[in-house]
Amino acid sequence: MGRYHLGAMPPMGWNSWNTFTWDINEQLIRDVADVFISDGYKDAGYEYIVIDDCWSLKERDKDGRLVADPEKFPSGMKALADYIHDKGLKFGMYSCVGTHTCAGFPGSFEHEFQDAELFAEWGIDYLKYDYCFKPRQMSGELLYKRMSLALKNCGRDILFSACNWGEDNVNKWIRSSGAHMYRSTGDIQDNWDSIKNIAISQLDKECYTGSYCHNDMDMLVVGMYGGSNNGWISSKIGGCSDNEYKTHFSLWSLMGSPLMIGCDIRNANQVTKDILMNRDIIAINQDIECRGAYRIKPEPQWFHSDEVFMLVKVLSNGDLAIGFFNLSDTQRELSLQFWDMGIPYASGCSLSMYDCWEHKELGVFKERFAPVVPAHDCVVVRAKLVK
Ligand code: GLA
Repeated sequence: MGRYHLGAMPPMGWNSWNTFTWDINEQLIRDVADVFISDGYKDAGYEYIVIDDCWSLKERDKDGRLVADPEKFPSGMKALADYIHDKGLKFGMYSCVGTHTCAGFPGSFEHEFQDAELFAEWGIDYLKYDYCFKPRQMSGELLYKRMSLALKNCGRDILFSACNWGEDNVNKWIRSSGAHMYRSTGDIQDNWDSIKNIAISQLDKECYTGSYCHNDMDMLVVGMYGGSNNGWISSKIGGCSDNEYKTHFSLWSLMGSPLMIGCDIRNANQVTKDILMNRDIIAINQDIECRGAYRIKPEPQWFHSDEVFMLVKVLSNGDLAIGFFNLSDTQRELSLQFWDMGIPYASGCSLSMYDCWEHKELGVFKERFAPVVPAHDCVVVRAKLVK
């Protein structure tokens, strides 16, 4: 893909942080690249393999260059990049706006152009750029603009993934900074409340996502089941149910978030693979126009809860992707009136519905569709207008 397509659609890939945090090394990254091919992740659209924090030494070298930790990465980053590229995949790396990364390794503050050149030299295709240890008086906006320019001028296509956790009204200025995606929330945890709170916090913000600058709701916790060496992420309670992971993946997909896997895909079970590689859901996320999904509140009108809603995403071929989400703790019927999407009865239009999780046609519906959705679950359909 050429420069002008970089970041057009939400990036898809894997990131080391959720499961492995500091415990990373080149063999792990190679194994993940192998599994991308052998288990079908690449064919499903996953492309980037990203090393998060804790990859470098604690000090730069005498020329001010970052140094990969030789114990974790004895062959060096260039060799690892070659390995990943040979498989037709892309390689991501991590740094930070501030003087140090969140885990205390050197950050790129005042080294932006030098580091961008080094990343290009190593063959990096993606940079996640965090927000810790930012000098208090410096403008974060300006520092993201700096690194964005440094990357766009380093001689290599490097996707820029900003990560300031939604601070400083980031959604107002991040698109014009040149970043391709931006974190809009604090760090996800492998539990249902975290998934629910992140999703609800991003409702009605669909104008802040789109091609070339996607709202990143954080890495996926699908398939972690509490398995992380970071006790805060796993919250020490054993993760989520399969239905909750399915709902999480559906929300992130419909809402246009990048899809960055965070579990140990070397040991993923079949349910995890079926969720992460559901092509009907991925197709909604990767629709070329990248429209934000708007919310419709369910009937009756006196029912006020952010935990129950429909999301509608207009697709480039005229279809509608519709998610019926029940994040509450009790089963509910979610009634969708078609006029709320611009389809009055008088138009003569019906909707032919295809269930993206059951992978089957549901039939043709006029005026209204009202699935019963269990607690913490969802129904996602692709609807085609028919006369
Ligand atoms: C921050 C980010 C996380 C992760 C860690 C690494 O908390 O939000 O996604 O990158 O730093 O230290």
